[in-house]
Amino acid sequence: MIRKIDHIAIAVQNLESALETFMNVLGCAPGDITIEEVPSEKVRVAFIPVGDTKIELLQPLSDDSPISKFLQKNGDGMHHIALQTDNIEEETARLASVNLSTLGAPKEGAGGKRIVFLHPKETNRVLLEFTQKHS
Ligand code: CO
Repeated sequence: MIRKIDHIAIAVQNLESALETFMNVLGCAPGDITIEEVPSEKVRVAFIPVGDTKIELLQPLSDDSPISKFLQKNGDGMHHIALQTDNIEEETARLASVNLSTLGAPKEGAGGKRIVFLHPKETNRVLLEFTQKHS
């Protein structure tokens, strides 16, 4: 089952400057922020809590990161919406049953969570991520 919006992700060229901006917008303290590198996606990620959801800032770690390609094409901006699921395998199978496809199989993302992306061509050009809540 889909539970909630887990996070909304924004692609940025400069994580430090974007963090400062969004911390100012949201009025939150440095202690609220988590920053990590996700080698599987070649990104540095910052999570800023917003109520019971988060804003995720994504900065590429290399030129062949998917986020680098996005930034070259679009510049900074909204990248994806992540939906929290109880069981990512079940939800992926449910998608297949309604003829929606994922970009590969679920894999490890930020925070060690299991994630999978849906094909944006099938969802009105909005990139959606399913993420599984830690059990
Ligand atoms: Co995400």
